[in-house]
Amino acid sequence: MEMIKERAAPRVERLNEALGARMVGFDLSKPLSRSDIETILKAFAEHAVLVFHGQKLEPADLSRFTRHFGPLEVHHMAELPFPDFPEVRILSNVRKDGKLIGANRAGRHWHSDLSYLDETGLATFLYCVETPPAGGNTKFADMAAAYEALPKEMKRKVDGRTAIHDRNFRYSELYPDRKPLTPEQIAAVPPSEHPLVIQHPVTGRKALFVAKDVVSHIVGMEETESRALIDALEAFATQDRFVYSHPWQVGDLVVWDNRSTLHQATPYDEAEYRRIMYRTQCKGSVPIPAVA
Ligand code: OGA
Ligand code: MN
Repeated sequence: MEMIKERAAPRVERLNEALGARMVGFDLSKPLSRSDIETILKAFAEHAVLVFHGQKLEPADLSRFTRHFGPLEVHHMAELPFPDFPEVRILSNVRKDGKLIGANRAGRHWHSDLSYLDETGLATFLYCVETPPAGGNTKFADMAAAYEALPKEMKRKVDGRTAIHDRNFRYSELYPDRKPLTPEQIAAVPPSEHPLVIQHPVTGRKALFVAKDVVSHIVGMEETESRALIDALEAFATQDRFVYSHPWQVGDLVVWDNRSTLHQATPYDEAEYRRIMYRTQCKGSVPIPAVA
C-alpha cells in the first residue's frame, strides 16, 4: 500500500503582544492549495507580519508566492541578480569580484517601502539565505495599534492632515556609502503627498503613515511644529510595545504589510559576517485617507 506522508495541519500562531504571526505547516516551494492561500491572506490582513520558518526557496518560488498578494513590482533601482526573474533582488554585504552582489545597508531607518511614490508599497517579501549569528534583525512597528493608542491631543493634530514623503529628503545622510543621486535620479522620484492617517483597504483599520527620515513636512503646518510632530509620531509608534524584532534564521521567509507597519534593519558585524537576502515586492496602490 502506498504510504501517504501526513502533513501537519497548517496553523497560525501569534508572534508576540505587538504584531505578527508565525505560519506553521506551509511549504512555499510548492504551489499552494486554495484554502492555504486563503488562510495566508486572512492572516496577512489580521497580523501584518507573517513569518514562515524552514523554507527552501528558489527565485521562481518566491516570485510565485509573491503573486498571491498582488502584481509583482520591479524595483525602480533594481540590479538584476536573476535575469529570468527581474522582480527578485538581493540584499547583501557580500562582494563578488569586488562588487556588491546586492543592495547593502538598505533600510537602516524606519520606513514603509515606496511610501514616497503615489502608489505606495503593499507587501514586501524577504527570504533569508545567509545571516550573521547576531544582529541584522528586521524590526517592525504596528502603525495601526500606534494610531489607536495615540493621546487625544496628538490624534487631533494628525486627523485630516497630509504629509510629504520624499525619497530624496535625507538620502545622502541615510546612504553615505552610496554614490550621490544624480539630478536625473532625483527628478525621476519626485515627492508624494499622502494622508497622515490612512485606512486599510481590507480591514478598514486606521494607521499612522509617517516616518521621520522620509517625511519632509506636514502640509500647511509651520516648519518647527511640523518637524517636532513628525519626530514625535515616529518615536511614539516605535516604542517597544508596538514593535516585533525578527531575528533571522536561514530559511525564514517574512512578508509584511507596508500599509500598516514601518520596518527597519538593524546593524551587524559586516566585516566578519555575511548576510544574503532575496527580496520581492508586490505593487501597491494609492493610500486611502482615513475618514474621521
Ligand atoms: C527592505 C528592507 C530590511 C532588512 O527589504 O525593504 O528594508 O532587514 N529590509 O534587510
Ligand atoms: Mn524596506
